[in-house]
Amino acid sequence: MAPADLLHDDPTLPLLRVEGLTVGHEGRVVQRDLTFSVRRGEVLAIVGASGCGKSTLLRHLIGLQAPLAGRVCYGAHDFHHCDAATRDALRRRFGVMFQAGALWSSMSVGENLMLPMRLFTDWPAAERERRARHKLSLVGLPGGFDLAPSALSGGMRKRAAIARALVLDPALLYLDEPSSGLDPPNATRLDELIGHLRDDLGRTVVMVTHDIDSVFAVADRALFLDEQEQTMTAFDTPAALLAQGPAPVREFLARGRAVRPLRVAAAASPAGPAAGPADPADAVEASA
Ligand SMILES: Nc1ncnc2c1ncn2[C@@H]1O[C@H](COP(=O)(O)OP(=O)(O)O)[C@@H](O)[C@H]1O
Ligand SMILES: [Mg+2]
Repeated sequence: MAPADLLHDDPTLPLLRVEGLTVGHEGRVVQRDLTFSVRRGEVLAIVGASGCGKSTLLRHLIGLQAPLAGRVCYGAHDFHHCDAATRDALRRRFGVMFQAGALWSSMSVGENLMLPMRLFTDWPAAERERRARHKLSLVGLPGGFDLAPSALSGGMRKRAAIARALVLDPALLYLDEPSSGLDPPNATRLDELIGHLRDDLGRTVVMVTHDIDSVFAVADRALFLDEQEQTMTAFDTPAALLAQGPAPVREFLARGRAVRPLRVAAAASPAGPAAGPADPADAVEASA
């Protein structure tokens, strides 16, 4: 039987280690020879032009596709080569917001959040509702539970989708282009939420983005994927990459900066002005 928390059973190892990974579709290589790691409690940004393979990489990291070569290790476990029970237990430790991560329009926001709990836990209905409401206040949507997704703005829908990715209390959160399509204040608010998840709740975040402001605002390290070269061209802190990264990476970083405000003035809390009072359960979850 798998131990309770496979992501943390060897604290000397990085939470995620990717070694010589080649990813693609039906044998066609999209990105090859990727080697990088993610530490506990850091935000990694995966950056690159549209179509270079960011979402494809993510699908391999979460087990929706098998690598053409190389390994994806969570703690001590080789994700694509371990037994099915271990792989399932690992999957339960991460939450995912897909790029087209729309909420189901036929369900209320609250029902959207409760769906993963209905599918993957035996928590009673009252507990599912409590957790859904709590996660909505965490992302600054305390009044969103009974609303239809169509009643939310684009920024609110993104935050609701992040709340849904959080309902099973993942240690590791995968977000595919969380700020795409948002106006500058909402994009900044989303960065603040991601920083809050890391700094106050101890979550580790892997975020696909082509938003350079987001990279500088919240990423501890950034991984650059190049479409022509079909491999990674840089992996370091944003500051180090801006100062001494390869020339195309430096130019890309310099070009995208300072497009939007660093902070949203009215947002006293990271989750935005509508955030509810902190739930003591967060402290428990953060240290779990
Ligand atoms: N399901 C799929 N089957 C075949 N090819 C795909 C599939 N999804 C994406 N691709 C191709 O893989 C490449 C990378 O796509 P993607 O990972 O979506 O890029 P990004 O997320 O960086 O924009 C593109 O050439 C795309 O057309
Ligand atoms: Mg994509």
